[in-house]
Amino acid sequence: MTRHSIPPLAVDTLDYLPIVGEWDPDTPYGQWAASVRVPPTFRPVGTPRVVVVANNKGGVGKTTTTVELATAWAAMGLRVRMIDADPQGAAVTAWIGALYPDGLPTEQRYNLRHVFLGTEPGAAGGLTREVSLDEATWPTALENLDLVPCGPDLSRVEYERTGGTDDALRYAIAESEQHYDVTVIDASRTMSLVTLACLIAADDAVVPVKPGVLDAMGVASLDEILARIRRRQNPKLRVAAVLATMWSKSNLARDVQEQAAEDYPEAIVSPIRNTTQVGEAPHSGKPTRLYAPRATAVADYDQVARLILGTPGAA
Ligand SMILES: Nc1ncnc2c1ncn2[C@@H]1O[C@H](COP(=O)(O)OP(=O)(O)O)[C@@H](O)[C@H]1O
Ligand SMILES: [Mg+2]
Repeated sequence: MTRHSIPPLAVDTLDYLPIVGEWDPDTPYGQWAASVRVPPTFRPVGTPRVVVVANNKGGVGKTTTTVELATAWAAMGLRVRMIDADPQGAAVTAWIGALYPDGLPTEQRYNLRHVFLGTEPGAAGGLTREVSLDEATWPTALENLDLVPCGPDLSRVEYERTGGTDDALRYAIAESEQHYDVTVIDASRTMSLVTLACLIAADDAVVPVKPGVLDAMGVASLDEILARIRRRQNPKLRVAAVLATMWSKSNLARDVQEQAAEDYPEAIVSPIRNTTQVGEAPHSGKPTRLYAPRATAVADYDQVARLILGTPGAA
């Protein structure tokens, strides 16, 4: 099984955005340009780290953010485990794909559903048994990047699991015997039991938003959910970054950034520039970083990945 290393980005092609402590709201539109807000209070944290990519809206760039951040961290030499927790489309699984050993029977290709529900009873009336996160983790074609896949049947967890769902993923990660520096979870937009388990398992949330009036409202309702989880189940959960995806210079983009900076004073707020190749990459089976290493969105994700973990070369 050959796995390809993820080469560093060519330095001369990097088009990093300037970093500012705060935006000046009085900047006239003509002089306003893309920049990354990193509050002076922002503290990057060390590894190991569990990062959930979440927003209760679809089509805002959650899957893209999961894959591109994970790939950026893997390229830095970190060991990364992606967890596909969105049964609708199972988009990370379809995009990157898990590599199973040759001849492994389908029923032994464990995925996130098995971590929640255990093995199938089997035709011969066998017993179910628990499946660890490690048993459901598979290599991908890329070095340092492993994947816990899922399928549409992950939604069976919602009505088949009888209890203990809240902490299931948190315990599964804690009990893992494999060392991963970063775990990146692509959460569903639906506030399902599985999504809740993802938010409870995480240290950091990264929230992609798509510039537009309705998205600011979406962020507000997500904020209520996060606040409730912080009060009850996971006090350490913080929003590390809000990403204005599919960004292009417009008053809507500016509004959504300024709103995000106000709602999340502690978080990094960064544009991820609108880039055609991002939409093409999934069809190539590669992350955008490999499909089009010079794409502006690739530089944006790389910079955000460095800023979140405090990796040198962020600025
Ligand atoms: N920076 C970007 N530039 C251009 N297209 C993007 C960008 N980010 C995401 N997209 C596209 O937007 C669509 C939705 O993104 P996706 O990551 O699937 O969102 P979600 O997982 O939230 O539903 C996809 O077609 C994706 O390729
Ligand atoms: Mg998605």
